[in-house]
Amino acid sequence: MSPSGTVITEGKTKLLVPEVHSTQGPGKINAGSVFFNEQMAFNRDISIMLLRALGKPSMTVADAMTATGSRAVRIANEVPGTEVTANDFDENAIPYIKANIELNGLSNVTVSHANMHTLFADNSFDYVDLDPFGSPSLFIQSAIRGTRKRGILAVTATDTAPLAGAQAPKCRRRYQCEPIRGYMCHEGGLRILLCTIAREMGKFDMGMRPLLSFSADHYYRTYVQIESGTAACDRMLDQLGYMRYDMQTLEREAVREYDSDHRLGPFWLGPLFDKELLARMSPEDMAREKKCSKMLDIWRNEIDSVPFVYDMSELSSFTKLSPPNLDLFIERMNELGPTSKTHFSPTSFITELPLKDILSVYREVAHRTPAPDAE
Ligand SMILES: C[S@@+](CC[C@H](N)C(=O)[O-])C[C@H]1O[C@@H](n2cnc3c(N)ncnc32)[C@H](O)[C@@H]1O
Repeated sequence: MSPSGTVITEGKTKLLVPEVHSTQGPGKINAGSVFFNEQMAFNRDISIMLLRALGKPSMTVADAMTATGSRAVRIANEVPGTEVTANDFDENAIPYIKANIELNGLSNVTVSHANMHTLFADNSFDYVDLDPFGSPSLFIQSAIRGTRKRGILAVTATDTAPLAGAQAPKCRRRYQCEPIRGYMCHEGGLRILLCTIAREMGKFDMGMRPLLSFSADHYYRTYVQIESGTAACDRMLDQLGYMRYDMQTLEREAVREYDSDHRLGPFWLGPLFDKELLARMSPEDMAREKKCSKMLDIWRNEIDSVPFVYDMSELSSFTKLSPPNLDLFIERMNELGPTSKTHFSPTSFITELPLKDILSVYREVAHRTPAPDAE
């Protein structure tokens, strides 16, 4: 018997989903009901765009926590050459997965009703997707086991409160990291997630290269490519480090070695993006085409050589000057050194320039910018 629900279209795929489902935020987990969140259409779009941009003639895919099968079925339907395993340990999910395969007439999806730890003890794939409720920390090691050499591991974390420092004790327990609060909290959370994946990779003597890592809505998400060999592993571990942040002076410093002054972290201090891959990603046919297009544009232009953003509100409270227009400020900064907007917040920016230059440009441009109510 087909499960009850409603049929929606996401991208080029039809999906049968429970009538009552989440439409935004972290989503509600209703006992006995299979999870679906419409807002995650954008997250699923990114998987489709990224896998298409790899341009591989064939690829094995495991959607380890697929629920209704939404991501698995979309990948099978929208990325040519994929052989997809749609897995969930919830027996209520299986009829939805089967119905969605049928609805789209697919022959390249295998349904799997297993605990992901068991699935990855025996099978490995070119692409593995982890999308748990809350923290992925308990699942990363098994997912690495299930990802082939040079394969790609994608991880979502919706436990942003611990990662972004609103629940620091939980972050210490789950991730053994000291989070940052304040304007850098989401970048800090994303870099803790990447650091956690890197430390798990290290246990296998493997390295990783982030392809795309971002903060959006209520979650963090990263796609990393596995690199085998101890040299790659050591290179990866060299990218982990700590930071010191002085809220009184706004001075921040990222360092590789731990010392008592640098107590925040450890974080991934390396790049978040593969810009060549980003250049090949296309928003065409995506469910949230406009948002995909906007985010691709921001990620492509975001400086990726240094960690930790600044925020206009932070500079405003520090200098006691109301914030100038961000575009004007960035234009002036770029005359002195590389500066860009960031996806972390519409009021933040990233720069290779030192704090003294940032403050001097801010004061100069803030003085030149008319107050909002001026003629
Ligand atoms: C957030 S939902 C996944 C949503 C889905 N990826 C989507 O885009 O619609 C998390 C799913 O993970 C499943 N799950 C949790 N722990 C699991 C495990 N150890 N093995 C397999 N599935 C698991 C749950 O049953 C649930 O369906």
